[in-house]
Amino acid sequence: MQLSNRLNAIEASPTLGLTALANKLKSEGKDVVGFGAGEPDFDTPDYIKEATIAALKEGKTKYTPVLGVEALRKAVTEFIKRDILLDYNAADVVICSGGKQVLYNIFMSIVNPGDEVIIPGPYWVSYKDMVMLSEGKPVIVNTSFESGFKMTTDQLQSAITAKTRAVIINSPSNPTGVVYSRDELKSFANILEKYPDIWIITDDIYAKLIYDDNEFFNLAMLGEKLRDRVIIADSFSKAFSMTGWRLGYAVTKNPGLVAALEKIQGQSTSNATSFVQYGAIAALKGDLSFVDKMRDAFQERRDFIVKTLSMMPGIKVHNPGGAFYVFPDISGLVQKPRFISLMEKYKEKTSYSKAFSSALLGEKLVAMVPGIAFGYDMGMRISYAISMEQIKKGMERVAEFVDICQG
Ligand SMILES: Cc1ncc(COP(=O)(O)O)c(C=O)c1O
Repeated sequence: MQLSNRLNAIEASPTLGLTALANKLKSEGKDVVGFGAGEPDFDTPDYIKEATIAALKEGKTKYTPVLGVEALRKAVTEFIKRDILLDYNAADVVICSGGKQVLYNIFMSIVNPGDEVIIPGPYWVSYKDMVMLSEGKPVIVNTSFESGFKMTTDQLQSAITAKTRAVIINSPSNPTGVVYSRDELKSFANILEKYPDIWIITDDIYAKLIYDDNEFFNLAMLGEKLRDRVIIADSFSKAFSMTGWRLGYAVTKNPGLVAALEKIQGQSTSNATSFVQYGAIAALKGDLSFVDKMRDAFQERRDFIVKTLSMMPGIKVHNPGGAFYVFPDISGLVQKPRFISLMEKYKEKTSYSKAFSSALLGEKLVAMVPGIAFGYDMGMRISYAISMEQIKKGMERVAEFVDICQG
């Protein structure tokens, strides 16, 4: 039977694929250390669960408005005001079933066939495929280890064409953990002010997970002139450890976009799960001490991983400012004859990072996502959303693997 041509343009999610493989090996009794996870290892806080259970018991089990319950939309605006001092109205907020759906619906709403969307790389796996599903053209702006994985203003300027429909900024970033500073974003704002037809999507899903003296800024905070075309995409998944709950939101000052998102969602999933929305209200109104505790634990794990990796020959690593990923560069290893023979053994002759990932899993039972999934074949993504005990065990094995690759 025939399937749609649309599917040929996209790939299955590589991060979900790797997690599934690592889980399969675990279920066969293998002692796998999984650095692949894209979700916090903490449980959702009880106060959020309790508010959800109460909503269920009160019978909040029916359809809600497509755009979400009014109290949650209002709570989102209060949270934004408290957090980043921006004023929005409940009417500017669209509640969706997870950040993924937020972004998918945004692309479906703003992209026409052939429109270009600028995506700095290494990028989160789904941006490119979502743009292609909406028949747009992803324009990847490649950055490098040397540039700190940051897009420069010159790169942004040269990527803009008459067909540019949108640019997406994800800071802190998945997979690199990069955090753009206020000045860097301001210089992007100065360029984007000249192009009034370009939408600016800011994926703020890791905004709460920022370390050291890094500070969170997004383009809505920096350019009054840009405000009307900045679309904030956010989710409860990472900050509140609510990945399985599937809840996220878009915030935009553009009523036409709100109507478009409502139309698409109304013809696909309708409202996000009713009682989950009530749990989310409790999350946003809470005191955030859970988030602080989780962030402190992540910071300790990040410090350990960065310190350990920086002692391994052939591996280069930055100290990421946010999210829960470290993205080391393996270019100093991959030309070694021993690594090349591992590429042959694992039948991965075209991608260094896939070969690294397969060989590390095969030889040492450690799972890491290959950088090629994020458009950067000389990188590996290490998620530290696992316990310190697992991290220590995993990093010991990585050091042994790196030793094997020498020579
Ligand atoms: C950068 C980024 N954006 C969006 C998402 C979507 O998250 P969710 O659909 O769980 O809200 C993720 C999840 O990994 C992500 O890393």
